Amino acid sequence: MTERKDDRLWGGRFEREPNKQFDAFQRCFAFDRRLLLYEIAVDRAWAKALEPVGIFTAAEVKQTLASLDKISERAKTDSAWLESFGATAEDVHHFVEKALVEELGSLGWKLHTGRSRNELVATDFRLFVIDAAAEIQRGLGALLNSFLLQAKANVSVPMAGMTHMQHAQPILLSHFLLAHAEAFARDITRLQHAAASADACPMGSGALAGNSFAIDRNAIARELGFSRITANSLDGVSDRDFALDYLFALTGIATHLSRLAEDFVIFASQEFSYVILPDDFSTGSSLMPQKKNPDAWELIRGKTGRITGALVSLLTTLKGLPTSYQRDLQEDKEALFAAHDQVADMLGVAAGAVAATKFNTERLKSAASNPALLATEAADYLVRKGVPFRQAHDIVGKVLRDAEKQNISWTALPLESLKRLSPAFEADFSRSLSVDAALSSKKVPGGTAPESVADAIANLERRLNKKAIKTGAKP
Ligand code: ARG
Repeated sequence: MTERKDDRLWGGRFEREPNKQFDAFQRCFAFDRRLLLYEIAVDRAWAKALEPVGIFTAAEVKQTLASLDKISERAKTDSAWLESFGATAEDVHHFVEKALVEELGSLGWKLHTGRSRNELVATDFRLFVIDAAAEIQRGLGALLNSFLLQAKANVSVPMAGMTHMQHAQPILLSHFLLAHAEAFARDITRLQHAAASADACPMGSGALAGNSFAIDRNAIARELGFSRITANSLDGVSDRDFALDYLFALTGIATHLSRLAEDFVIFASQEFSYVILPDDFSTGSSLMPQKKNPDAWELIRGKTGRITGALVSLLTTLKGLPTSYQRDLQEDKEALFAAHDQVADMLGVAAGAVAATKFNTERLKSAASNPALLATEAADYLVRKGVPFRQAHDIVGKVLRDAEKQNISWTALPLESLKRLSPAFEADFSRSLSVDAALSSKKVPGGTAPESVADAIANLERRLNKKAIKTGAKP
C-alpha cells in the first residue's frame, strides 16, 4: 500500500494547491464543529456496521471505537487542542478523520469506506435538529409554566378586552394570559413535527447513489436512535425539509414571542399602566432618570426578524437546487444554529420576565369598569326578553347616543328613559349590568367566565405535567 503524504480528504487528481482565499471560503469547521459529537456518534455506528460486511475485523472496530471515544473526550475537555487542531481541518468530517489517523495510522483511513460527507452531514444535522427541538420544547415548558403561575395568581382580575385596540368586552386577565399560552402550546406540536421529520437516517445513501458494501442501514439507524431510514439515496443527501420544519417552528415561536412582547410594551406605557415592569428585566435611560424601559420585550420583538430571516435564507438556498447534493447545502447550518440559540435565549428571558411582571390590578379593574364594555350585555339582555338581536343592537345604540347627548354614563339612564326606547327593558335590567355578570355569562368552554378559565388553567396544568412538554421527549 502506498502511504499517503498529506492528510486531505481529496486531491489525488489535483495538480495545483487551492487558491488561499477560496480555500478559506470553502472551509466550514468554524461552524460545523458544533456537529462534532454527532459526527463521532455516526462514526461509531459506521465502524460497527463495517464489521459484518467484512471491511473491519472485530479488533479494528474495537480500536476505532476506542480512538473515537478518546477524540470525543479530548474535544470536550481540551479546547486549545480543538482550536489548534481544528484550524487545520476543512470540516468536522475532516477533523475526525485527521484525529483518527493521528491515533491509528492508516487504519484511520479505513472508516470512510463506502460513505460520503454528503450523507454524514445530513445525518449529523438531523441529530442536531432532534436535540435542538427537545431543548426548545423545554424552554417553552418553562414559559408556559410562567403563564400558568400568573394565570393562577390573577384569577379574579378583570380587564378591558379589546379588539382593534378599542375597548370591547370585559375579560379576565388570566384569560388574556392563557391566550398567549395556547399559542406557545401549539408551538410544541410544531417542534414535535420538526423532530419527527428529522427522524430518518440517511446513512447508506453514499454520495448520492447508495452503498455498495451491503451495509445494514437499519442497524445504523437504530444505533443512532432514529426510528426509520430515508427512502431514497438522492433525496437522503439533499433533503433539508427537516431543517425548514425546524426553522418554521422557531419562526412561529419568535412570532408569538414578538406579539407577547408588543402587548407588554404597550401595557407598560404610562397610558395603559397595566403592568409594572420588573427591575431585573428592564433598563434605564442614560439621559432621563425617570425611565424604566421594557428592553427585554423590545429585544425579543426585535430579534424575531433574524429568525424569520433564517427561514427565508434556507428557503432561498434550496429553491434553485438541482436534485442530489450540492455544495450550496453547506449554507444550511449557520443561520439555523443562530436562530436556535436566539430562540433559546428569547424563551429564557420571556419566561423570567413573565414570571417577574406585576400587574397593576387597580388599573386593570378600573379599565374593565368602563360602562361601554357592557353594551353587548345590554343587547343580550334584550335578546333574552325576546327582541331580535339586530333590533336589540340598534336599541342599545340609541341608548348610548341618548346618554352621550345628555353627557352622562348610559348605565345611569333611568328605567323610564330606557322604556321609551324599548318596552323590553324591565326592573331587572340594571342588575344584569355588571362586569361580574358579563364575565360569568361567558361560561362556554374556552370563554372568559371564571369557571371556564378555571377549567382552562387545570387543562393547561395537565398538559404541562405531561412528560412530552417537560422533557421534550419524542411524541
Ligand atoms: N461541508 C459540507 C456541508 O456542510 C459537507 C461536505 C460536502 N461534501 C463535499 N463533497 N464537498 O454540506
